[in-house]
Amino acid sequence: MKKYDYWFPKRRFGMFIHWGLYAIPAWHEQIRGRLNIPRKEYADLAAKFNPVNFNPDEWIDLAESTGMKYICFTAKHHDGFCMWDTKFTDFNIMNTPYNKDVLSMLAERCHARDIGLSLYYSNPDWHHPNAYNPISSHQLKPYPDDEPNQGKYLEYVKNQIEELCSNYGKIISFFWDIPPKIHMPSINDRIRELQPGIMINDRGYDEGDYSTPEREVPDGKRFVKPTEACQSVGKQSWGYRVNEDYYTSKYLMSSIDKTLAMGGNYLLNIGPKADGTIPPEAKKILDEIGDWYHRVKESFEGAQPSSELMQRDDFLLTRNNNTLYIHLHNDLISTGITLNPVSILPVHAEILNTGEKLNVDLDIMPELCHVGGESQEYLHISNIDVNGLIGEVVILKLVFDDIEEAFKIK
Ligand code: GLC
Repeated sequence: MKKYDYWFPKRRFGMFIHWGLYAIPAWHEQIRGRLNIPRKEYADLAAKFNPVNFNPDEWIDLAESTGMKYICFTAKHHDGFCMWDTKFTDFNIMNTPYNKDVLSMLAERCHARDIGLSLYYSNPDWHHPNAYNPISSHQLKPYPDDEPNQGKYLEYVKNQIEELCSNYGKIISFFWDIPPKIHMPSINDRIRELQPGIMINDRGYDEGDYSTPEREVPDGKRFVKPTEACQSVGKQSWGYRVNEDYYTSKYLMSSIDKTLAMGGNYLLNIGPKADGTIPPEAKKILDEIGDWYHRVKESFEGAQPSSELMQRDDFLLTRNNNTLYIHLHNDLISTGITLNPVSILPVHAEILNTGEKLNVDLDIMPELCHVGGESQEYLHISNIDVNGLIGEVVILKLVFDDIEEAFKIK
């Protein structure tokens, strides 16, 4: 069994959560760096962080209703503020009016409800006096009395990893952010020792177990390496932002569908408000996506990328035994679609989104039949209720008696 077998097939779709002090100014999770806020002024936000409405069960309810099976939580973002009870800096959640270990509260509920817990940890740290790393990105120039020292900073990172991987139960994956450009496999080795079976991403101290395309779906039909794509509901920020430019649900569905159909995992991010609640705009998007996802999830969960069955650029295919799923990313422009030639008709065909039965036949299609040339029968689907399906990514389900025979797969 490959080491990733236990995570990717079972938990394909997850919720990314960016939450920290930056939810108070509600501009962007990197507000300190992008607007050059002095360290002291930013740190004063800790005295105002009091998420009295934080209820991890509400977050998990939303994750579940969206179809998500794990949560990746920002334990520490670039600002250096730690969302858990760490012994190694005072700049943490215990030194806020809230004074509760939110990571522990979240972890407890995730474990109780079989939601996988994954942790995000930023290598850049704008608060720690030793952290400045000129060979990496997202760095802020040190203050005069800072003492840039990678050795000391890495000790700090290792100490925090010990806490995170020892005190919060099972962690299914570790999401380093911003490659430090330091090769030190012993750090990942220690994580693997503390959390056997964990997946570690490719933004850390060795090449990692999986890649992390961000805000884009790579071209192709199948990922060659375990992949978890991530995207936020908002175009501008990962943390909560007032006046966020939210993506359309259809746009997000399309990127979720492509990623999953290519065999990847998908992390969709939301940024809770400073009081711990989920912005209604984000909730509405997840509700729409969840409504769609639950109707079509059999085309991802347990299904394998199978686009090689038909060499086409206009859709991706997945397959579970004799069932074939056609993922139509482009809007249907007519009530019919011509597929490839097959030798035997499917015994059942439906629009997975609605369960509506489809009309399939083998037909000679005029558009593919040239004057004076050969004619050939194609698998043709007709009478699709296209206008009723404009708002979502459509997936067709075809069930064959013997799919290998139908496609003459040797
Ligand atoms: C980018 C951003 C960072 C965000 C991350 C999520 O690296 O710089 O703010 O947390 O993407 O993957």
